[in-house]
Amino acid sequence: MMELHDPKLKQRGRASVDFLAQMGIAAGPVLQKVGGEIAEKINTDNLPDDLDARDQTINSALSESSAYATQRLMGDWHGRNHGQIAIEAFEEILPDLQSTLDATTNGPASLELDPDLKLPAYWDGVHFHRTSGGWDGHEHMGYVHGEIIHKKMVARFFPGGIFQQRHAVAAMAPRDSYERILDMGCSSGHFTCGLANAYPDAQITGIDLSARMLEHAYRTANANGWNWKLYQRAAENCGFEDASFDLVASYILIHEIPADVVEQVFAEAFRVLEPGGDMIMSDATRYADLDKLSVWKADRGAKYGGEPFWRETASLDLAEVARKVGFVDVTAEGTYPHVVKGRKPA
Ligand SMILES: C[S@@+](CC[C@H](N)C(=O)[O-])C[C@H]1O[C@@H](n2cnc3c(N)ncnc32)[C@H](O)[C@@H]1O
Repeated sequence: MMELHDPKLKQRGRASVDFLAQMGIAAGPVLQKVGGEIAEKINTDNLPDDLDARDQTINSALSESSAYATQRLMGDWHGRNHGQIAIEAFEEILPDLQSTLDATTNGPASLELDPDLKLPAYWDGVHFHRTSGGWDGHEHMGYVHGEIIHKKMVARFFPGGIFQQRHAVAAMAPRDSYERILDMGCSSGHFTCGLANAYPDAQITGIDLSARMLEHAYRTANANGWNWKLYQRAAENCGFEDASFDLVASYILIHEIPADVVEQVFAEAFRVLEPGGDMIMSDATRYADLDKLSVWKADRGAKYGGEPFWRETASLDLAEVARKVGFVDVTAEGTYPHVVKGRKPA
């Protein structure tokens, strides 16, 4: 995949972004120290089943711990500041970027935004990731998120990880080739790129609620000469005809929607698949596959990280949801991401 643009941050923006990324590295020894204190003070086998009670138990046991106080402070500071730091770094480079942005506003891709779309209450105005305004919180949030937050911050916490993972998951769909693929919650297009690489002959359609993310996906597609069709639509009510696709896929959409909507999304995937078509959905580690302490860590991370629906969706059995809406040959594998596949009966 050709990058839309490797953001060459200016000195001030680069220093702030580097500081934030270094904080992630500096957190390592702090987390280790907290881990040691937990092992010393808490019998993890006896932790309460209720997640809020579990959090309270661990918090009380660590109330005197300076390492734990430092960990919380770092998490909170990161959550509060990363979005603004990325936006400021972007605004410094905008004048240099303008010609690249202009050059990709035309090309083989298409983009249909819907100013009348009724955005769901669980999404509209929610500050996902504690970024002010959430996915649409800035006029260029697609670039800020897709290129700066993802590539300059998040990718540094997962060396060699998150982009390769999207490509690997895309290639896990059962068949070697598809003709019509729908990417639900395509956002700025990172997983869509994985699908485009794995199935180069397919016509790819992407949907998302966020106009700003879709604009970035559109530019990325144009920069690569891909004819993606992008629409601002909800995954649970995507408006395509029955049997429009032979593969419906998603990567880390599910943890951003309430549990009852997850079932609607799976049912919608089933509806728009042709008989015999495949679904592959991937997201956060199921709590059922983790021990009590790991669930507590994931749950706290989600709370600090501005992920309001993580707990309820990580508590779902996605394979069961897939079977419930009619999929057959359902499989579920892996921890992060947890990948669920199913087929619409022929
Ligand atoms: C974590 S991002 C997905 C990342 C993307 N698939 C990737 O690989 O980078 C979640 C995306 O899902 C979108 N989203 C959330 N709820 C949605 C819904 N009901 N329908 C469509 N998109 C939704 C958000 O706007 C956001 O862009």
